[in-house]
Amino acid sequence: MSDVSLTVNGKRVSGSTEDRTLLVHFLREHLGLTGTHVGCDTSQCGACVVHVDGRAVKSCTMLAVQASGSTIVTIEGLANGAELHPVQAAFKEHHGLQCGFCTPGMIMAATDMIAHHPEGLDEATVRAELDGNICRCTGYHNIVKAILAASQAMSKGSKGRAKQAA
Ligand code: FES
Ligand code: FES
Repeated sequence: MSDVSLTVNGKRVSGSTEDRTLLVHFLREHLGLTGTHVGCDTSQCGACVVHVDGRAVKSCTMLAVQASGSTIVTIEGLANGAELHPVQAAFKEHHGLQCGFCTPGMIMAATDMIAHHPEGLDEATVRAELDGNICRCTGYHNIVKAILAASQAMSKGSKGRAKQAA
């Protein structure tokens, strides 16, 4: 057993867990954050993506003890109270989901993708960068549309804020 101490969605949490516990299981079973899903046992599906120190990570590929000391954001930490994050709002607006099983991982991957492309995104880049996330329902088209729309909305928002600050 090892002690694990993390900041998750802005709150300090700690617990004791077996050394072999994966981060995804620690989040789901110890912290009750079941928005992060497990869709495979081969690290292929991306349903388990969370942010670890600001980068999208498949939480089934990391031990909880390896993540100790990190800052984690899960799908539960993305909205601002009742106000959806722009990526969540875009998935809703553009019907970027059907059953919703892949959606938390898609949204966490998309927010990281948008953050790391401040110059903006095009369809080919979105499709290439989504290759670690599998959706069995949508055919991806509306997911791509939603990510492109969110990227545009967020870049307008940041330009607006930059103008206000100038
Ligand atoms: S559960 Fe499928 S990649 Fe992590
Ligand atoms: S919406 Fe069902 S797996 Fe993507």
